[in-house]
Amino acid sequence: MATILPADKQRFIDELIDLLKIPTISADSKYNDDIKKGASWVQNALSKAGCTETEIFPTKGHPIVYGERLIDPTLPTVLVYGHYDVQPPDPIELWDSPPFEPVIKKTELHQEGALFARGACDDKGQMYMHIKALEMMVTHDELPCNVKFMIEGEEEVGSDNLELFIQEHKEKLANDVILISDTGMISNTQPSITTGLRGLSYMEVVITGPNRDLHSGLYGGAVANPINILTQMIAQLHDENNRITIPGFYEGVEDISKEERAEMAKAPFSLEDYKNEIKIPAIHGETGYTTLERNSIRPTLDVNGIWGGYTGEGAKTVIASKAHAKISMRLVPGQDWEVISDLFTTHFKSIAPESVSVEIIKHHGGQAYVTPIDNIGYQAAHKAYAETFGTDPIPQKGGGSIPIVPLFEDVLGTKSVLMGFGLDSDAIHSPNEHFGLFNFFKGIETIPLFYKHYVDLVNADKN
Ligand code: BES
Ligand code: MN
Ligand code: MN
Repeated sequence: MATILPADKQRFIDELIDLLKIPTISADSKYNDDIKKGASWVQNALSKAGCTETEIFPTKGHPIVYGERLIDPTLPTVLVYGHYDVQPPDPIELWDSPPFEPVIKKTELHQEGALFARGACDDKGQMYMHIKALEMMVTHDELPCNVKFMIEGEEEVGSDNLELFIQEHKEKLANDVILISDTGMISNTQPSITTGLRGLSYMEVVITGPNRDLHSGLYGGAVANPINILTQMIAQLHDENNRITIPGFYEGVEDISKEERAEMAKAPFSLEDYKNEIKIPAIHGETGYTTLERNSIRPTLDVNGIWGGYTGEGAKTVIASKAHAKISMRLVPGQDWEVISDLFTTHFKSIAPESVSVEIIKHHGGQAYVTPIDNIGYQAAHKAYAETFGTDPIPQKGGGSIPIVPLFEDVLGTKSVLMGFGLDSDAIHSPNEHFGLFNFFKGIETIPLFYKHYVDLVNADKN
């Protein structure tokens, strides 16, 4: 397969920088014009890279960009999925350089330099690898099958309108395998392929006490303080073994076999490096499971935000009328996110004292996902990584969620292969997000090999 010329490398970086400058923040409607700009940017990039048809589909939310290069109906079709929207950059003051003014800097793990910008890794940089891989294959006449692209703008806010879109465009999106780079790998010397994603149930709770904020001297001690109550309720959601106390929460959770646990334990992992990288004095989690198990195959419950009362400068003696929290649960195969959302709601209401009222708002959710490793798509990815890295990749379940992936399988009937090239330390969703240039180019070199091996394996399967 063709290697990337130095001049092309520079151009690919410059193009990605151009995309990273557009603040496509899906959560904040102030950026709706930038989202539109981002969508046309991607459409234009797809046509330049060799898509013969491209189209922007408006939705009730943000637009979906579609592109295709269909060379022969008898050949397999790969559907590439990615997202051009990004997380809000907050807290902005913790960035060393502005989030939408990309810069290249070296880091300990990225000696060849990394691009620092919101979306560099999640997912603009990783999505763009696929567009450049197409360009390479088209330029060198190495595209072995049909390809379709679907790049959405609402992944970071729950892909609310994508399910309807795929249901309404089943024909258009028909494919043999779905290829996604929106996850990570173990390290630049030990590649891995993500074989699982956790599900998600995202809730918001509001505790209301008195009808107005009260003087904490005049009323304190005699009236329930919603913030005190909320924190007590949250504290009850885990027991002393850090297991979640919601009745029925673990029902259906498949306990993994000894063999699978032994397999997982083979992945290189250093607890010291892990603690050191995020500067924690000790780890914390469910009794009876290792760190790698806790963050991939076990369900969790986390408070993502909590607010209420006075948080301004100085002191104010007050009992707030309301207290709020956003709480999310990561789920594993065997758990249904809608059932879990209901269990949470019933339980949370049941533990509230009579002195307050509880309101619960259900946000988005999604099911967990597993890619079987005996699948042709997985095997093609395995061969591709083995060639470019010179080391066999390890299958690894990931802790994050991409709720649309299980829906792809339900609606389109095909499996997704999760070829991620990011590292956990790339700080996705955090200040100073970055993506290694090594990883970016490794991705662009590995993807065409996936196509080649995939088509070969499909043919071998037929014979
Ligand atoms: N790309 C991530 C998901 C991810 C990252 C999976 C790394 C595995 C490894 C995606 O953009 C994301 O952030 N998903 C959200 C869910 C969504 C509904 C907001 C998540 O996992 O929090
Ligand atoms: Mn992503
Ligand atoms: Mn994300």
